Amino acid sequence: MRISNEDMLRETDLPFDKAPPYRIKAVEYSIPTTREKRKEIMQEYGYSGRLLPAKYVFINMVTDSGTGALSDRQWSAMMEGDESYFNCRSYEIFEETCQAFTKMPYIIPSHQGRSAEAPIYEIFVKPGDKVPSNTHFTTTSTWAFQRGAEPVDLICPDYLDEENYSWFKGNMNLEKFEDYFIEYAEKIPLVELVVPNNLNGGQAVSMENIKNVRAIIDKYNKIDTQLYLDIARISENAWIIKSHEPGYKDKSCLGIVNEMLSYADGCHMSAKKGGLVNMGGFIALRNKIFWQRMHPKVIRTDGFITYGGLAGRDLESLAVGLIEGVNDYYLQDRQRQVDYFANACQKRGIHILEPASCFAVYINAGKCLPHLDHTQGPATCLSAQAYIEGGFASTAMDSLQRGRIDANNPQDSSKRIKAPYELIRCAIPRRTYYEPHYDWAAECLFRAIEWGDKLPAFKPIVDDRPPLELSEIGLHTFFDDYEPVSPLP
Ligand code: F0G
Repeated sequence: MRISNEDMLRETDLPFDKAPPYRIKAVEYSIPTTREKRKEIMQEYGYSGRLLPAKYVFINMVTDSGTGALSDRQWSAMMEGDESYFNCRSYEIFEETCQAFTKMPYIIPSHQGRSAEAPIYEIFVKPGDKVPSNTHFTTTSTWAFQRGAEPVDLICPDYLDEENYSWFKGNMNLEKFEDYFIEYAEKIPLVELVVPNNLNGGQAVSMENIKNVRAIIDKYNKIDTQLYLDIARISENAWIIKSHEPGYKDKSCLGIVNEMLSYADGCHMSAKKGGLVNMGGFIALRNKIFWQRMHPKVIRTDGFITYGGLAGRDLESLAVGLIEGVNDYYLQDRQRQVDYFANACQKRGIHILEPASCFAVYINAGKCLPHLDHTQGPATCLSAQAYIEGGFASTAMDSLQRGRIDANNPQDSSKRIKAPYELIRCAIPRRTYYEPHYDWAAECLFRAIEWGDKLPAFKPIVDDRPPLELSEIGLHTFFDDYEPVSPLP
């Protein structure tokens, strides 16, 4: 019998602050490799986590998206999936759960985050508009471009200060936002807050910041500007609020999520993260007319509005995963794992972006390999070498790979804008690894760094791909390739 959601939140004296509140039932084996083989693989597959065949990866922290382990409760719920085309029973369970999670009445399932973003951008955003954010995820900035609008990232100054260790460096820059909103109010149909801020070191956003963004919109609103939250990892952000923002320590993470969303008009979720599913997502909103306007957009590409591209069993799994993912004991354990990995890195002298976020550890590769400047891809290099050292895969987010978009000339691939930090994101899959894996991953990075200035610069490979369209330019990171100027050790 499935343990109920209420049972999973009972008061406890068990050591859930030190050990996971679950145990392991199925395991997944890895293919053994050797250093020589991994060197060959790296060379053959283009030196990046994105191109590596996953079968040759031992510890995979390229992404936390859809890569977690399902629970027995999810697998058993999947057996109850109702695969009727229209209005399946599984949709009712899904809808009820998403309503309880968001406290919003109107719900549309989607097969992942970006397909939930599509109808939102289609109904709200038009050419010439501007969409401010604390920092758009790649897909929402691409949707803005696709609509002929400009995505605008207003990063808070705390994030740019390396010595600042405050907990909410993912916030919107309120001063800039207020000025910008006053100047362009008639051109801003939508404001996006990404909680936490994935592309800025995974840093969390405070409740106060969300409240203030809402207050600014309300104060200067001219065209019914909508505030939407990108909530892929909202439960993990809620854990940081609970742990570090005054006034929240006695609230449940679900209560905190509800409050965060109470300031928004709507939200979209890639449930592949905090929803603890391998595939799925949804939109939630308050306005019935907007909801109805989204319907034909969903039917056009994802099928009927009660399944949105998902099977009945996916809806069941998501309904269970969303609540497991906001369970306080689970989130406490999740943070403990991230912190364990962060400590394993710091113990070895590896520079990380501090504080460690709630879902990933970001390695400051610029500081680890000071002989490589921002044009030479220190993170690209370190990430590749760490794979060679011990089968550990991660995502390089440095100026070489991410800094190619020049707002004035986005299709010019020769210029690189300097990123605030040269980072490697080590995103931690949920309920998947345990302490020895984190130690080994840190060891791989350490051994790679030990090569010091023997590690070569990387440069872009010019290939004969057709150029991306202007509206797709943000997706270049999926297609650009790089190689070292001399062989990796
Ligand atoms: N929003 C955020 C904040 C994300 O991190 C992602 C995906 C999406 C939206 C899009 O969701 O992939 O389900 O369509 N992030 C993954 C990552 C890919 O690795 O960070 P999706």
